[in-house]
Amino acid sequence: MKIQLLNQQPVFKALQDQAVKVPHLAELFQQNPHRAQQMSIESAGICLDYSKQRVTDQVLSELEQLFYQVKLPQSIAELFSGAVVNQSENRAALHTQLRLPAAQQPEAFAVIEQALLQMEALVDQVQQGVWRGFSGKRITDVVNLGVGGSDLGPLMVTQALKEYAEPQAKALKVHFASTIDGSQLFDLLDHLNPETTLFLIASKSFTTIDTLSNADTVRAWLAKACPSETLMLRCHFVGISASADKMQQWGIAPENQLPFWSWVGGRFSLWSTVGCAIALDLGMGVFRQLLAGAYAMDEHFRTAPPLQNIPVMMALLGVWNVNVLDIRAHAILPYDGRLKYFPSYLEQLEMESNGKSVTQSGEPINYATCPVLWGEIGANAQHAFYQLLHQGTQAVAADFILAANRYEASQSEAHYEALIAQHELNIANCLAQSRVLALGNAAVEPSDNPFRHYPGNQPSSTLLLDRLDASTLGGLIACYEHKVFTQAVIWGINPFDQWGVELGKQVALQLQAVLAGKGDTELDSSTLHLAAQINSKRGR
Ligand code: F6P
Repeated sequence: MKIQLLNQQPVFKALQDQAVKVPHLAELFQQNPHRAQQMSIESAGICLDYSKQRVTDQVLSELEQLFYQVKLPQSIAELFSGAVVNQSENRAALHTQLRLPAAQQPEAFAVIEQALLQMEALVDQVQQGVWRGFSGKRITDVVNLGVGGSDLGPLMVTQALKEYAEPQAKALKVHFASTIDGSQLFDLLDHLNPETTLFLIASKSFTTIDTLSNADTVRAWLAKACPSETLMLRCHFVGISASADKMQQWGIAPENQLPFWSWVGGRFSLWSTVGCAIALDLGMGVFRQLLAGAYAMDEHFRTAPPLQNIPVMMALLGVWNVNVLDIRAHAILPYDGRLKYFPSYLEQLEMESNGKSVTQSGEPINYATCPVLWGEIGANAQHAFYQLLHQGTQAVAADFILAANRYEASQSEAHYEALIAQHELNIANCLAQSRVLALGNAAVEPSDNPFRHYPGNQPSSTLLLDRLDASTLGGLIACYEHKVFTQAVIWGINPFDQWGVELGKQVALQLQAVLAGKGDTELDSSTLHLAAQINSKRGR
């Protein structure tokens, strides 16, 4: 199928013509005192204020036309209906199906609830102390071994929702190890007890060397303590994968296997049994609320008209910034310490999905796709990279993420008042930064001092949550997933494959052989020289 390129869409030229006509943000706010009210959308406990984006009514109307010209209504319907939206791998991308309430699941997807019930039973056994280690002791620690989509989602969610952990989950400590160098395990294994630690091996493919090498290290560590391999495998390993065969080959017994399916993309998999670490750490009820929040956002995305649709607007504004205003950097700035890992999570979601330069059908494209995305807890980043945002030479778009409510005033502890004051300070900082980025000196007063000149006009959106809880976090994640999909359709690319990561894996195998003195020498001189230096420094 021939994909129509973005720059061949009839409305694209009109959008480009608008670029020079849009006034500075300070002027846009002066022209229309109701701009923020008109440019805010609210759904599922999340409000998107995009009034600090460099858009006019004309631009919005043309972006709306673009939505219809690229046939997004059909594409959205196809995504939800299970059509083959991932053409290079010839499969559907049905992460939304995982969030559909059980009562609405068609017969063909009964496996989803079955897998969740199996996961729930396992979680229950571990939390209630029915699941025991090889020596009969209760499990006290769980380590999730996974990488990329099999790590970042559960890691980010458990960090974000710690304070909502259900009572039965509180006794259990959940840890994460992903790095191929083993350094996280090195720290963990030092203080974990093999008798009381359960390992989740989470890998969609069950072939990822990072995860399998960590699993092998753990197996060796356990084998030293446990007298029987059968007992060790049965009591200390759970496999989470789309490949039952590979789990079996590794030694995971069928009753310790939690399935998911090829139609769940790795970076979209936290909604599946990959969420087991979330359920163990926070409780199954919290996990189900997360699913429900994502489902509410799915419904909003599926049904709201484009200019009233939060993910669609985030996508359209992103395309406007990248392809018309030529803004190739995007900062994710949560003003909430609980969202520490949210930027890393989105780095994978957005850049692995849309860092592409050929269309769905393989033709090269001649315009920019995914911007470079990075981020940090906003208030900390103020003391790190905000200088560049305010006075550097790069245009950067930003998402500010903030929860209106934090720390319940009803709490009687003495320090709560102080914490609430800190929350207010945090809010003030968040609002101040987006205001200064947009307006520059006009936020306060003009200055002749070149060092105190703030040009402003850096576009941003603010995502305001009523409060950060399982439901709004589910909605927020789903929101970015749908933004990614919408942009992929506009750019004509496939967001569900990741061929770009394959070559590096292949070359790493070559290099392993070279380091072991067995590889061919047909390598570039830099790599060969480095390998020789490394071997010499290691006394080899
Ligand atoms: O190498 C990239 C990648 O395939 C990601 O897309 C994925 O999330 C990660 O590796 C882990 O893959 P798996 O879950 O199959 O171990």
